[in-house]
Amino acid sequence: MSSIPSNSRWPARLDLLQSASGLALALFMWVHMFLVSSILISNDAMYAVAKLFEGYYVFGRSYPWLVSAAAAAILVLIMLHAALALRKFPQSTRQYQLFLGHKNRMHHPDTTLWWWQVVTGFLLFFLAPMHLFGMFSQPDQIGPYASSYRVYSTHWPLYLILLFAVELHGAIGLYRLAIKWLSFPTMPVPVMRKRLSLLKWGMSAFFIILGLCTLLAYYRLGSTLQDQPGERYHPVTQSQCPTNSEVLS
Ligand code: HEM
Repeated sequence: MSSIPSNSRWPARLDLLQSASGLALALFMWVHMFLVSSILISNDAMYAVAKLFEGYYVFGRSYPWLVSAAAAAILVLIMLHAALALRKFPQSTRQYQLFLGHKNRMHHPDTTLWWWQVVTGFLLFFLAPMHLFGMFSQPDQIGPYASSYRVYSTHWPLYLILLFAVELHGAIGLYRLAIKWLSFPTMPVPVMRKRLSLLKWGMSAFFIILGLCTLLAYYRLGSTLQDQPGERYHPVTQSQCPTNSEVLS
C-alpha cells in the first residue's frame, strides 16, 4: 500500500472534515433536543413540531418521507464523521496500553476527556443507528401518543444511554473544537481553558437535564396509553388539522 508522503495535506484536510461534520452533528443535536422537548410545553406543541417536519405547514399536507430523508442524511453524516474519527482510535493493544498508561499517569483533564470521546463515540456507533432506523422506517409514527408509547413500551433504555452518550460526546467535541480552532488573544490560555471547560460542563448538564425531563414526560404519557397502543393524537382544534387521509399519526 502506497504510504502517504509526509508533506501530504490529506491528514489536515481529513481533520478539518472531521471537525466540520462533528460541529454540524452537535448543532443538529441541540436543535433536535429542543424540538423533541416540545412535549414539555404541550401535546399540541409536539404535534405541531411533528407536522412541521412532515412538511404540512409548507405543502398543506403531510409527507412523512421527508423525515425518512432527514434521518438518512443524518446517518450518512454520522458514518462520515465516524469513519474519519476511526483514524484517531488507538489501532493496537500496544497503543491502548500506551494511551491508558499515559492517561492514568498524567491525570490531565483534556487527555481524560479524549478517552471519554472515544468511549461515547464507540457507543454512538451502535446506538444512534438503532434510533435512526426507527425514524427512517416509521416516519409516520412520530407524535405525542406514538412517540410516548414507543418510549414507554420499548425505547426508554436506548434513549437513556443515547442521551448521556450523545450529550457528553457533543459537548466534549465542541470544547475540543473551540480549543483547537478559536483563539482569544487577550485571555491567558489557562483562563480560556477553564472558562471553556465550565461552559462545556454547563451545556452537558443543561441538555442532559432537559433530555431526562423530556424522556420522563414521554414515559409518563406513554404509561397512560398501555391499553391503546395504536392511539394517535389529534389536537383539540380539529378544524385547523389536516383530515384523517392527510394525517398518518
Ligand atoms: C433526523 C434524525 C432524527 C430524528 C427525525 C429524530 C427524532 C426523534 C423523536 C421524534 C424523538 C422522540 C421520541 C420518539 O419518537 O421515539 C427522539 C428522541 C431522541 N433522539 Fe432523536 N431523532 C433523530 C436523530 C437523532 C440522533 C442522531 C441522535 C443521537 C445520536 C438522537 C438522539 C435522541 C435521544 C437521546 C432521544 C430521547 C430524547 C430525550 O432524552 O428526551 N436522535 N428523536
